[in-house]
Amino acid sequence: MCGIVAYIGNKEAYPIIIEGLRRLEYRGYDSAGVSILNGDIHTYKKKGKVKDLEDFVEGKNKSGTLGIGHTRWATHGRPNDKNAHPHNSGNSDLTLVHNGIIENYASLKEALAELGHTFTSDTDTEILVHLIEEYQKRDDLSLEKAVQKALKKAVGAYAIVVFDKKSPNKIVGARKSSPLVLGLGKDEFFLASDATPIIKFTNKVIYLNDEEIVTVNRDGSYEVVTLDDEVQNHEVKEIDLKIEELEKGGYDHFMLKEIHQQPTTIFESMRGRINAEEGWILVGGMQDHMKRMVDADRIIIAACGTSWHAGLIGEYLFEDLARVPVEVEYASELRYRNPVIRERDVVLALSQSGETADTLAALEMARNKGALLYGIVNNVGSSIARFTDCGSYIHAGPEIGVASTKAFTSQLVVLTLMALNLAKEKGTISEGYFRKLLYAMEDIPKKVEQILTLDEQIKYIATEIKDAPNALYLGRGYNFPIALEGALKLKEISYIHAEGYPAAEMKHGPIALIDESMPVIVMATNVSAYEKIVSNIQEVKARKGMVIAIVTEGDTEIKKIADYTIEIPETEEPLSPLLSVIPLQMLSYHIAVLRNCNVDQPRNLAKSVTVE
Ligand code: M6R
Repeated sequence: MCGIVAYIGNKEAYPIIIEGLRRLEYRGYDSAGVSILNGDIHTYKKKGKVKDLEDFVEGKNKSGTLGIGHTRWATHGRPNDKNAHPHNSGNSDLTLVHNGIIENYASLKEALAELGHTFTSDTDTEILVHLIEEYQKRDDLSLEKAVQKALKKAVGAYAIVVFDKKSPNKIVGARKSSPLVLGLGKDEFFLASDATPIIKFTNKVIYLNDEEIVTVNRDGSYEVVTLDDEVQNHEVKEIDLKIEELEKGGYDHFMLKEIHQQPTTIFESMRGRINAEEGWILVGGMQDHMKRMVDADRIIIAACGTSWHAGLIGEYLFEDLARVPVEVEYASELRYRNPVIRERDVVLALSQSGETADTLAALEMARNKGALLYGIVNNVGSSIARFTDCGSYIHAGPEIGVASTKAFTSQLVVLTLMALNLAKEKGTISEGYFRKLLYAMEDIPKKVEQILTLDEQIKYIATEIKDAPNALYLGRGYNFPIALEGALKLKEISYIHAEGYPAAEMKHGPIALIDESMPVIVMATNVSAYEKIVSNIQEVKARKGMVIAIVTEGDTEIKKIADYTIEIPETEEPLSPLLSVIPLQMLSYHIAVLRNCNVDQPRNLAKSVTVE
């Protein structure tokens, strides 16, 4: 949420910052802004997208080799020009960008106002830059010392970057609960919310930890200290990220590219972890902690949004295959209640970004209770990946479309492999079934490829239902969470109200909504509950609902009663979500495009939710 980028070096800063902001735009697109140092500070900011900022800056003075930029997801203050970042100090010497929320901003603002500070925005951020200014003035402090002092007063979450025109050869950054990465180039430094704006220039990075402040200097030196002034020596990491992975690669949208990447990304998530022929599974992250996992009383899965849906499928998998009790929790709820978590529990955090504030906070709470913390994360080097005791990357590659697609299927792959690995260790699965599932896993990528060829048919169905005001998604067993995920995908990118329900629950309420204007999308691939699903479809048809059924290839019975059927290849039931979610992703995509919605940047959303 909110993207930050900063540059100091010998090159022109503005083009680097603007390109960086374009890459970070998925983190928020309510407004964008830059401050460039050239004797004076030149600050430009505009409501809307980075493109609006670029148009606004056209022809203006933007030359300089030091600058900061920001793309905003609004928390405090409406999305408009005055609330856009950067925010400048009252004396106009300082300029600052911020990602996070300063929770005690109101009391700080009052105190600063009494000292004569006046404010021009409605943001919490502006308070910080005034506080730094105040400490500089009052205590005659250097920029970094004033930042340190100000941040000690701030309650909440922040990644900030700030510079002072009186110290034209340095930039200061700091973080707590919001990400900030330092990029080390040759005679130049970058600071950014993630590595995507940096990778074009250097693959050498340092991931800052909470409550650390970094000062980067034009002479090539830098220093990281804690809020308590302890010097930190960080290992410089080399990141493996290719610039092409950050481009649309010929697709109209990132979401479309990411849907179509799934045969590859699913394969990548399995690579080196499974061999059906030789009959083994090996999930690296589990090996050092296997005893603790085998002996676990419980697995608690904490996640948000789509990752939470993957977690629900994880519950089915672990209970079904490895016979361990599982609870799946919204991280935002788990962190604030008083849950019973013990040392013999394993807390599994699922997160594409690895930066979701609620998931991170739930982990912090669970660590205090002594549970083993396991992260299943996509973003390499992210906060959750670094905070957990152990974990597995899902290796889906950068996911840029705000609606999660390929990360979801890769999360399912890792959860399936983990459940199978644990089942094997515990002896809760027969050798025959184990082998069968291994072979079935290896077949998934080509089956996904086959589903992707149904694009025209799915697009046609999309044209039929694109104007519906509501939609209902139904599924049973392993496919109930897929109903939830299908509904979320439709809501977030096409703004059609949709609900996911366990198919049998429909008659306990939602059936009242069904009439001829209500498309009902039914996951009907389950072998175990097939007859029951057929009955549910009959119940919808009896009330004139329009049924779109996802069925197994060769199904004839449902074809006779449903309005549309989408046939997908057969697989073992625990793996069926990996296939049944694909047509739902495609359907949402096409509906959103037909409704002229911004697929990759849906209104009000941001990819990485780093505030509560
Ligand atoms: O990065 P995370 O997986 O922790 O993100 C969790 C949710 O914010 C995310 O899945 C969100 O629901 C997506 N927009 C869903 O498409």
